Amino acid sequence: MKVLVTGGAGFIGSALVRHLVLARGDQVCTLDKLTYSGSLTNLKAVEHHPAHQFAQVDICDGQAVRSCINDFAPDVVMHLAAESHVDRSIDGPGEFIATNVVGTYTMLEAAREYSQQHSGFRFLHVSTDEVYGSLGRTGTFTETTPYAPNSPYSASKAGSDHLARAWHETYGLDVVITNCSNNYGPYQFPEKLIPLVTLNAINRRDIPVYGDGMQVRDWLYVEDHVLGLCQVVEKGRPGRTYNLGGENERANIDIVQTIIDAVALHTGQDVQQMQSLIKHVDDRPGHDRRYAIDISRVRQELNWQPTTDFEQGIRQTVRWYIDNQPWCEGLSEVYAGQRLGQLKQLQKGR
Ligand code: NAD
Ligand code: DAU
Repeated sequence: MKVLVTGGAGFIGSALVRHLVLARGDQVCTLDKLTYSGSLTNLKAVEHHPAHQFAQVDICDGQAVRSCINDFAPDVVMHLAAESHVDRSIDGPGEFIATNVVGTYTMLEAAREYSQQHSGFRFLHVSTDEVYGSLGRTGTFTETTPYAPNSPYSASKAGSDHLARAWHETYGLDVVITNCSNNYGPYQFPEKLIPLVTLNAINRRDIPVYGDGMQVRDWLYVEDHVLGLCQVVEKGRPGRTYNLGGENERANIDIVQTIIDAVALHTGQDVQQMQSLIKHVDDRPGHDRRYAIDISRVRQELNWQPTTDFEQGIRQTVRWYIDNQPWCEGLSEVYAGQRLGQLKQLQKGR
């Protein structure tokens, strides 16, 4: 396949590009603006590979997007480019509307135009379970759960999902959509819970836990997600949505403990000393309490399911962060571990 991957210099996108090029032998063009969360360092493994090329393009720039698609002539677009961090969306929603809503619209329009000359072309829109809002103690999200996004991030992703669906229904563009739960693994930008806690534990810095730490997320190893995306692209039904998840619900406070145990295992650091770094801080505004995904559809129709054991995946991930300190230090200019997304600070600033 010839695959154009948007957001391929980010966390999930770079795992996808490595898989497509190195494991599957696909020809790949990575299209990425290289925002604070995207880096060519994430693509070192394919840097000189003849089957990989890179284009620094903003997905909101229609002309640049169109020429990239026309020049590369892909069979498939896998659209991952997005502003991805909930806390940043609280501080500054504008970028999220621009990239996630307008950028997705721009991608869909360019794809629609291109598809008129290229039969068999397909567009995968990669989205999140956060569009469904928050669950109580029981229940799971299915593909028919009504949308109820609570953060500017999830609202912008919900908007982009609706656009992708509409471009299929109205224009007949071959679109497939995935809504996935929380990913973890190597190369995740350290604003997110798992890398932040890992680096703070290693470096003996405070570990911020929002509120009571009993919020639940359904964690999926990034390489399992990548395999799911490939299944959906290859076998998904046009216009259909597929939920992807880890069947692995954990409270945040338990995640922190699992990471501390893994750091202790790899470095010999004292568990109790690391536990003393845990600080319960003000909760995230609009914080969703629980996410859980029902993956019956993708399991039954496309034969996909997660395979990475969580404790094993966390140990691998922690090992990666220990072994890749220069990668982490290189990011400290753009993000130094500070708290983001606090309404109090916004109000003070007014
Ligand atoms: P990330 O922030 O690590 O990477 C995003 C990438 O998009 C970066 O390389 C960035 O440079 C690029 N980008 C941002 N704005 C752009 C623009 N205007 N034009 C071109 N490129 C741009 O994010 P991630 O965690 O890898 O998430 C990738 C996708 O998967 C997103 O669409 C996200 O909503 C979705 N998703 C993420 C998770 C998760 O747990 N991380 C779960 C479900 C779905
Ligand atoms: O569910 C899928 C979504 O998962 C993706 O769509 C998003 O792109 C991705 O960022 C992620 O969103 P979350 O908000 O769930 O991830 P985050 O790592 O920011 O937070 C995970 C949980 O940990 C959440 O309940 C907030 C909490 N948290 C987070 C940070 C950064 C803390 O308690 N302390 C922290 O310092």
